[in-house]
Amino acid sequence: MAILIRGGTVVNADAARRADVLVADGVIQAVGDKLAAPAGAEIVDAGGAYVMPGGIDPHTHMELPFMGTVASEDFFTGTAAGLAGGTTMIIDFVIPSPQENLLDSYRKWRGWAEKAAADYSFHVAVTWWDESVRRDMGTLVAEHGVNSFKHFMAYKNAIMADDELLVKSFLRARELGALCTVHAENGELVFHLQQELLKRGVTGPEGHPLSRPPAVEGEAANRAIRLAQVLDVPLYIVHNSCRESVEAIARARGEGQRVFGEVLAGHLVVDDEVYRNPDFAFAAAHVMSPPFRGKAHQAALWNALQAGLLQTTATDHCCFCAPQKAMGADDFTKIPNGTGGVENRLHILWHYGVNTGRLTPSEFVAATSANAAKIFNIYPRKGVVAAGADADILVWDPKRRHRISAATHHQNVDFNIFEGIEVEGSNALTVAQGKIVYRGGELRAERSAGRYIDRPPYPDYYTAELARTAAR
Ligand code: URP
Ligand code: ZN
Ligand code: ZN
Repeated sequence: MAILIRGGTVVNADAARRADVLVADGVIQAVGDKLAAPAGAEIVDAGGAYVMPGGIDPHTHMELPFMGTVASEDFFTGTAAGLAGGTTMIIDFVIPSPQENLLDSYRKWRGWAEKAAADYSFHVAVTWWDESVRRDMGTLVAEHGVNSFKHFMAYKNAIMADDELLVKSFLRARELGALCTVHAENGELVFHLQQELLKRGVTGPEGHPLSRPPAVEGEAANRAIRLAQVLDVPLYIVHNSCRESVEAIARARGEGQRVFGEVLAGHLVVDDEVYRNPDFAFAAAHVMSPPFRGKAHQAALWNALQAGLLQTTATDHCCFCAPQKAMGADDFTKIPNGTGGVENRLHILWHYGVNTGRLTPSEFVAATSANAAKIFNIYPRKGVVAAGADADILVWDPKRRHRISAATHHQNVDFNIFEGIEVEGSNALTVAQGKIVYRGGELRAERSAGRYIDRPPYPDYYTAELARTAAR
């Protein structure tokens, strides 16, 4: 069925203007003045609100098997919660165990994701190396629409990538025209600090940030950047949480290196004092890596987002309920790492970004949707309200208020790291693939309506990199 959205201001990353939007067959048919409604079309009166592209969360972990348990949010509940909060696409992660075949792992995740209510895609983690990994990276790019590979520089004795693996994988990604991404924390240092803290009797969640100080993140961010520089590959650093990693990115970009940075909604607003709360359940619910930081780091992250040093926002949505977090009741290193947020990223970015004057509405669209679409090579299919794009659209009411709470959210987890925050500005309506899936508090997410989105490799991008090398 066709939908005509009338009377709104269409906000894209490059410009905003009053216009109507006509949707049919899952695609935006036209954006313009006084569009005529086809017979039978549903008319939506935007009432002067903003009409924007649906959010893209480039970093989630639905039903991830991790640290001896499985994330509570599955691909249906997680994508449904995303739709309720205006996120119409996620990019999740296939994470093979060391020695696990990459293609087997990819197929396993594709199977889990069939229940998704919104569109999705996958980064694939490189957690070990042999000839089959090299070959399968090629197959994933050529035949399965994967254009980004993830490397965890943390999680020693599990999925950590050492420098040898980073070098091999970065070089292979370069051959394939795929983007290298890293979780930047020095896993050796984290392990060492964890053992020291436990020896000193620090067993509670307060040990978590102490074992992962900003220097540990800054070192890894800088190391990954330097490896990428020498090997001449673009790099994307996920969940930057501190001034140290922002400084490494700023320096690299200032020297002409192609380095992208992501920031999580949680790292922008949640304070590290949560780890010193005497209530274990509360503190443990915030255990994620890298940890939440103090106000000075949050200010550095906002500044970097405003300055364009960080381009994307995400959530790292990876939920564990209280009984799962209790696995680490006597030892903080055993608390499953991860927090939620897929439903609230846009609320937080608008409330603390646009309402404070840090971001314009167009910059909000860039940070929540368009930049992820561009960096992960699905623009302009996603990330823009324009004729020909997928009809993933929000009607965003800048005055709509609601209080975030685990009691009312749609996420399948018993805690919300943004609990009690009253935000002004949220999606009154979410359209995904041309269908109204959320309106005024009513969620109509459909199991298995989500599609796998292929992301092609980056030929021009890489040619440019190689040409630069040749010219040096
Ligand atoms: O604590 C986190 N971030 N858990 C999910 C895995 C990861 O490191 O992204
Ligand atoms: Zn991570
Ligand atoms: Zn993650």
